[in-house]
Amino acid sequence: MHDRSSAAEMAGSGAQTGAHEGTSGGAEVTGSDDQAVAILATSMRTVMCGQVDLHHVERRVQLCGWVARRREHGEHLAFVDLRDHTGIVQCVIDGSVDVRSEYVLQVTGKVRRRPEGMENPSLATGDVEIGECEVVVLARAEPPPFPVEDRVDVDEVVRLRNRYVDLRRPRMQRNLRLRSAMVAAIRRAMERQGFCEVETPLLWSATPEGAREFAVPSRLQPGAFYALPQSPQLAKQLLMVAGVDRYFQVARCLRDEDLRADRQFEFTQLDMEASFVTQDDVLRFISEAVLDAAEVATGERPPPIPTLTWSESLDRFGTDKPDLRFDMELVDLGTVFANTEVRAFSAPTVKAIRVPEGAELGRNRLDGLVQTAKDLGAKGLAWFRVTGGAEGVSLDSPLDRFLSPLERQRLLEVTGGEPGDLLLVVADEHRTVCTVLGHFRLALGGKPVGEPPFHFAWVVEFPMFDGTDPQGNLVAAHHPFTMPHVDDRELLVSDPLAVRSQAYDLVLNGWELGSGSVRIHRDDIQREVFAALGIEEEEGRKRFGFLLDAFRHGAPPHAGFAFGIDRLVAIFAGEESIREVIAFPKTQSGTDPLTGAPSVLNDKVLAELGLRRAAAPG
Ligand code: AMO
Repeated sequence: MHDRSSAAEMAGSGAQTGAHEGTSGGAEVTGSDDQAVAILATSMRTVMCGQVDLHHVERRVQLCGWVARRREHGEHLAFVDLRDHTGIVQCVIDGSVDVRSEYVLQVTGKVRRRPEGMENPSLATGDVEIGECEVVVLARAEPPPFPVEDRVDVDEVVRLRNRYVDLRRPRMQRNLRLRSAMVAAIRRAMERQGFCEVETPLLWSATPEGAREFAVPSRLQPGAFYALPQSPQLAKQLLMVAGVDRYFQVARCLRDEDLRADRQFEFTQLDMEASFVTQDDVLRFISEAVLDAAEVATGERPPPIPTLTWSESLDRFGTDKPDLRFDMELVDLGTVFANTEVRAFSAPTVKAIRVPEGAELGRNRLDGLVQTAKDLGAKGLAWFRVTGGAEGVSLDSPLDRFLSPLERQRLLEVTGGEPGDLLLVVADEHRTVCTVLGHFRLALGGKPVGEPPFHFAWVVEFPMFDGTDPQGNLVAAHHPFTMPHVDDRELLVSDPLAVRSQAYDLVLNGWELGSGSVRIHRDDIQREVFAALGIEEEEGRKRFGFLLDAFRHGAPPHAGFAFGIDRLVAIFAGEESIREVIAFPKTQSGTDPLTGAPSVLNDKVLAELGLRRAAAPG
């Protein structure tokens, strides 16, 4: 159908001429652009649509792509905007040729400068157009279900049902390519640091990460099931016993949990584990990988990542996922109200946040905040509008008349309150005070997660346990193989909730990006932790016996980490949901409108798997 040899020739000559002009100094194209043109040239095209510019003028080029738009131009000519993933270029074609939106074309023509006044500065190729076009229709297309443009807002189910059209939109193309570039940077960083990529099984047994697992029925062992891995946690620890030393994987993980903007059933982690390392080594390895990825995304390397302890993070930001892009830190008012007569403020912890310009909030809104504080578990919320001017500063609040002059003065001093600000005060148990004020800090000062700047933070020394379950057993905050803090091992029996662990999180703009820990590699400590978690020896053997067995064969001290690649890319893409950086995500209700998954299996297949049909899915 096509003249392969001439296309190949053109591809060759295009690239060569470009390179020649690049070195002669007269061309506008850079060496790397030339390289990109040459790489993407094929036997069917010489240049990409978005790459045609003034330096191609007078050259014949061959392009392939989709019809973004057709406009009639006089009686005999039509303007066709041809699109590929690099952009759009205008082709002037014979008006009698039947080409419509989303038809796939091969256009061969001559690049010419657009007539004066006809340039389109909003288009990268807006100085040129393709004339003298020969058009080959490579495929016809039905009218698209929605315009292939970023500006058009389309219902998500419709987008996902027609994902192959949705992904043609520039924003989605950008996201997919950003993801690819960031993953490549991460891989390079891991390899540079001596890590070896190993693939671990998808058909596997349960992992102790706490989420519900997907089960896959076994045909050969009817009634038995594989679990799809929530993460390669146990496999990577086995790899440490196996002497791999530094393992990583761009790993698919599967968790049957409720879906949200930052959660999918299937997601991808950068998973790693290393032997003979401490927490600091892991933080260094991972920092290198995420900073490299950030640099690829933004062109700038972020500064070194600060480290906070979990309790410092809670104290200052009211959360273990601090968004460091803005201040509004929680300030302690313990000394201000140490001997207060105000009943509401005599509590174990009293803290405040200062909301700049918050004094504008009306009474209804403030009543709403008080209600929210109660819904979040606090006894109440006190607010103070800071008012005044040259004649002095005063507080506007139902509580103001109960404060002593010294308390009033100290409250302003400690919070730094200035006229126009709003002060929010919570007095209660420490954890409640922090989480409630942390909520208001975000609600009143926060910004969308993907909005620059990008601030990473390490949060270390997480508590070992996250309270107790209804049976009174402690619940592991990370997973049961996490090493307690070296100074806290004695507390495992006497005061387990006070035990800190060697677990750490990486946070970016208020989202949890990843978690990891130094693992227990010693039998005696593992038994103590299992005992604290109420895991009987026999149960421990049943659930994790293979790992414990492996540990008896020489387990090196080891530690690891995993971060969510979907979350990392979404933030750098400026997206609010990870669905925008996944080619084929599930909807919020866990379906795939494109393929109809999940679907009902017929009785024959069920019988083969040793399953019987339950009630039809609702
Ligand atoms: P964790 O369970 O904290 O740790 O997971 C690590 C990171 O994976 C991402 N993530 C998700 N992303 C999208 N959708 C989901 N449903 C989802 N669940 C988790 C998050 C999270 O921070 N094996 C341990 C790591 C270790 O200890 O080495 C683990 O998986 O970004």
